[in-house]
Amino acid sequence: MWFRLPDLQGHLDRLTDRLTQRTRGLLLGLAIGVTLSLSSNQLAGFWQAYRRNKAAQKLPKRPIELRSDEIVPSTVGLIGNTPLVRINSLSDALGVEVLGKCEFLNPGGSVKDRVALRIIEDAEAHGYLRPHTGSVLFEGTVGSTGISLATVGKAKGYESHIIMPDDVAIDKVLVLERLGATVERVRPASIIDENQFVNMARRRAHEFGTVDIVSDDDELVSTQASKKEMRSRRSFDAAPRGFFADQFENESNFMAHYEGTGPEIIRQTGGRYDAFVSGAGTGGTISGTGRALKASNAKCKVILADPEGSGLFNRVKYGVMFAPQESEGTKRRHQVDTIVEGIGINRLTKNFEAGERIIDDAYRISDTEAVAMSRYIVAHDGLFLGSSSACNLIACIRVAKRLPKGSRIVTILCDSGARHQSKFWSEEYLDKHGIKVDVGIVDRLIKE
Ligand SMILES: Cc1ncc(COP(=O)(O)O)c(C=O)c1O
Repeated sequence: MWFRLPDLQGHLDRLTDRLTQRTRGLLLGLAIGVTLSLSSNQLAGFWQAYRRNKAAQKLPKRPIELRSDEIVPSTVGLIGNTPLVRINSLSDALGVEVLGKCEFLNPGGSVKDRVALRIIEDAEAHGYLRPHTGSVLFEGTVGSTGISLATVGKAKGYESHIIMPDDVAIDKVLVLERLGATVERVRPASIIDENQFVNMARRRAHEFGTVDIVSDDDELVSTQASKKEMRSRRSFDAAPRGFFADQFENESNFMAHYEGTGPEIIRQTGGRYDAFVSGAGTGGTISGTGRALKASNAKCKVILADPEGSGLFNRVKYGVMFAPQESEGTKRRHQVDTIVEGIGINRLTKNFEAGERIIDDAYRISDTEAVAMSRYIVAHDGLFLGSSSACNLIACIRVAKRLPKGSRIVTILCDSGARHQSKFWSEEYLDKHGIKVDVGIVDRLIKE
């Protein structure tokens, strides 16, 4: 069709009008559609989050939880929820399942991370500790708990001051120093000596502040707040405090295992386990985990693995605290006469007493046996473990002999051999102390 120019102009104008109206309509429709779909997406999101929260509330309480499909928000989120591994060499040879809880995988490298976290969190909940106030955690330890306190402390905003006997493996001192902890090494001494490492830690916490705040359960916290500051809540709260972690007597230690390690094992085994084997240093692991496991399965046997020179074996077997080396004058070390570090003690602690009645039996493990086991496990399973884990595994063999085939024995793999390079894993050190490395011991124990 032909148009004259003015007609063409009018036609174009009408066309443009119609198009603009249509475009406006289209755009409006699009906008309404997008808004509706956005808000319905949002609504669906809210609904899903609500349902997730509701479902999470119904799950049994998991005090320490690491989900591998999520971003972990802090170092402390790496603590706990450790894997349970089948130790194939021992399991196959013994016809049982020996399962090891891989505590060496905690960020601070040992089972003590759980304890350090729980002690600090409980102290915070009670208002004894506040992060980023220059407050200091004091502890007497053979090393692992110190490393865990320093790790959790740094992650949460505290300094650490660790007192340890001067005969423990230097490897742990070096780690503590790298973690920025103050380390004091003292001569090994009996608990009645005021310079014994635990007594010293309590004293240092007390000396830190000018005023002690002692709770009903004897937790010791001192504050540097002045009299005037103590009247104002805010400046009192901001003043640095010295806190004595007191792993031997502090109930938080027991609770870390009763509410953490124990329930984790129950979940991992689906509740099917026949025995639990553990050493005791403070007693927190055997008491807390043992009680949780026994509460869920009364038939579970709880067995103590005790190193040479510790009094706990006799305590469990005969009700008396006595280590033969105490009377023989043959002690190589003061605290407990063994090269095994972390377990064995010659006094009763609150954390051991908390579970004493549920311990069914005990085995005394020699240094030579522990050394043999550590070499056997690294050769057969590729697990490079510390001395207390090796003691536990020797005890597992003894327990396996008394249980029906197919039974399940759970134990703790407390820390890595890397912590023990200079002593337990040093051929030179062992040779100097007359300890033979005879891996054949393990095969003989299995065949016995
Ligand atoms: C390496 C290692 N294993 C085992 C234990 C014993 O654990 P518990 O103190 O819970 O008895 C400790 C304690 O310090 C340790 O350091």
